Amino acid sequence: MQSERRLQALRGMRDILPDEIPRWQRVEATLAEWMQRYGYREIRTPIVESAELFYRGVGQETDAIGKEMYVFPDRSGELIALRPELTAPVARAVGQHELALASPLLRLWYYGPCFRYERPQKGRQRQFHQAGAECLGVALPDADVEIISLAWDILTSLLDHPAVSLHINTLGTVAEQNNYRTRLVEYLERYRDSLSTTSQQRLDTNPLRILDSKDTRDREIIEAAPRISDVLGTESRSHFDAVLELLDMLDIPTITDPYLVRGLDYYTHTVFEFRSNRLGAQDALGGGGRYDNLMAQVGGRPLPGVGFGLGIERIILAMEDRAASDSHWEPIVYVAAQQEFSAAMHQVTRSLRKEGIRCITDLQFRSLKAQLRQADRLRCALCLIIGWSAPVDSVIIKDMRNGEQLQLPNDPNAISATIRQLLAQ
Ligand code: HAM
Repeated sequence: MQSERRLQALRGMRDILPDEIPRWQRVEATLAEWMQRYGYREIRTPIVESAELFYRGVGQETDAIGKEMYVFPDRSGELIALRPELTAPVARAVGQHELALASPLLRLWYYGPCFRYERPQKGRQRQFHQAGAECLGVALPDADVEIISLAWDILTSLLDHPAVSLHINTLGTVAEQNNYRTRLVEYLERYRDSLSTTSQQRLDTNPLRILDSKDTRDREIIEAAPRISDVLGTESRSHFDAVLELLDMLDIPTITDPYLVRGLDYYTHTVFEFRSNRLGAQDALGGGGRYDNLMAQVGGRPLPGVGFGLGIERIILAMEDRAASDSHWEPIVYVAAQQEFSAAMHQVTRSLRKEGIRCITDLQFRSLKAQLRQADRLRCALCLIIGWSAPVDSVIIKDMRNGEQLQLPNDPNAISATIRQLLAQ
């Protein structure tokens, strides 16, 4: 009989295997801890949304939506999308549930999978995980600073300082952006034929994105291009200056980058990105910025907002060298039993577990030697032996750390008391 082809996960979608989980859990615990310290409350939105949310909220001309979004009709023919990001869904949820009515300042955070149909490479997947925070209701630079400082604290508690750098820019108001776009296009048109093919296309669709092109020919042209700072009014300028000053006061080092534009259309004023020198080409650990018009665009009550999203896979890649310090889940007690004592085995393990003691059994009733070897392999501290040479109605506890053995009655209370005592040593 010919065997069936072995099935694989989809391209760009990874299994996170048990050995990797401790590191993920450490990242997740750090995230939750910092979010709480800053007063952010978790929100969970569906993975699938109407495609229109992202067309309207993030912009059809962006790569994440126009080129990379997973969009398909559901059984009723409605166009639905696997979420490529979470800011638009959070804005939708805030509007839908009128969350801002009860509390005009909302601090929300989230964590979960996102999907982008990109060409997979190191640090770039089609299903990846983002954690982020959104602060809604405050247009002052103080909210930008709180958000950036929260992301900085999370990243620097997981990675060393020099591995993380913060790049920051301002895009001004929508009117200033439009004004700037016109000037930029005017300038770039003169060099159209010398630009890379991608930049030539972007000139017609999303000219600001040309600024972050990595192509060397493009870079030369961009160096001499007009800058957003040329068109900023006093208000936008002082907003940005205040953000920079406050971050400096908090000892959060910034690199001002006039070419940082970010890939999503909803940004106004502050935009920022966290990068790591431990990653290859995909060096952005996370990014974010202010989006004062997004709420209105997705149909909610207008509300200013600022937030960030962090790429969990990239954080984990950048943490690589710290892997050794992660401890794996280890059962503490191995319960080795002979088949005729299976009832006792189930009873005693259940009562130990109820007392909060991690224990594990063989389930196959192999030989005592095989079970002891397994207990050793799993680095269990103690092995509880039921059957074999133990007299009827008694069990043996073997301390795997020093080989000492102890005989006691097969009574759950006596067993757990002794185990506690031994573990406390
Ligand atoms: P973003 O820059 O598109 O921003 O994504 C944030 C982060 O998600 C990136 O910096 C990167 O670490 C990670 N990421 C993005 N695409 C992939 C991928 N294909 N594979 C692995 N990691 C990836 C946003 O999504 C905004 N919603 C952030 C935000 C929140 N702005 C305001 N509030």
